[in-house]
Amino acid sequence: MNFENILTNTANGITTITINRPSKLNALNKATITELHHAFDHANKDIDTKVIIVTGSGEKAFVAGADISEFANFTVENGGKLAALGQEMLFDFVQNLQTPVIAAVNGFALGGGLELAMAAHFRIASDNAKMGLPEVSLGVIPGYGGTQRLPQLVGKGRAMEMVMTAGMIDADTALNYGLVNHVVALEELMPLAQKIAGKIMRNSSVAIGKAIQAINANYTDGVNGFDIEIKEFGACFGTADFKEGTTAFLEKRKADFPGK
Ligand code: COA
Repeated sequence: MNFENILTNTANGITTITINRPSKLNALNKATITELHHAFDHANKDIDTKVIIVTGSGEKAFVAGADISEFANFTVENGGKLAALGQEMLFDFVQNLQTPVIAAVNGFALGGGLELAMAAHFRIASDNAKMGLPEVSLGVIPGYGGTQRLPQLVGKGRAMEMVMTAGMIDADTALNYGLVNHVVALEELMPLAQKIAGKIMRNSSVAIGKAIQAINANYTDGVNGFDIEIKEFGACFGTADFKEGTTAFLEKRKADFPGK
């Protein structure tokens, strides 16, 4: 698929997906959401991709939200469909990928932008980043999972305040809240994302995929995360990665995981 709103690049086991609408601060219109779905799906299936990094182009924004110009005239029905389709195609989809996804937040991450970053498996930020869910200032509420994932990450009280005030927090506050794991200067953001990706890649990709599933199960209604952990733990024993990991340890050498 040819992309018009995003850039993708695969090198050294990392696929970087860059949202590329800088003149609109990388706002997520329908076309961009569709392209992102395909790019994430492709990277997840690509055997050369061990880690996915998602970021925004330019120095100002990760993503400044859903594209307001697209939904300003929507009806109740259109609004419901917008949220349902977006959650299915992109936000839930990203959260449930077996390939680790790191969001490198390089500026404004607002509304759907912060929701995309929160759907990633974890987040790092540059020191100019600003994050918030300003939807109530537009007369709507977050619709791409923000009311669910923000309290999971920062706690209910902080999420309530952020959503009700529609305010933005800076990178250091986000770090303090546990919304991002690290804050660095903008020029150090991608090198840090790549360094963390390098550490992840040394490990079994099969085991990492199962760990993601087990951790996500803790946040899935009607699912017992401990049961999923037991099931996935057991399944690891049937993988070539487990055989290689344990054999390498006993032979006092570095594991060379086949990823199966
Ligand atoms: N949807 C559509 N267009 C957006 C957008 C969004 N979420 N966020 C920014 N843009 C567009 C602006 O309309 C402007 O386009 P234009 O040059 O054609 O007029 C361009 O991106 C640059 O934005 P601008 O507002 O001029 O930049 P700024 O530095 O003055 O302000 C923000 C930056 C992020 C504070 C401001 O753009 C903003 O509040 N954006 C909306 C954030 C939001 O409410 N997101 C949640 C949506 S549900």
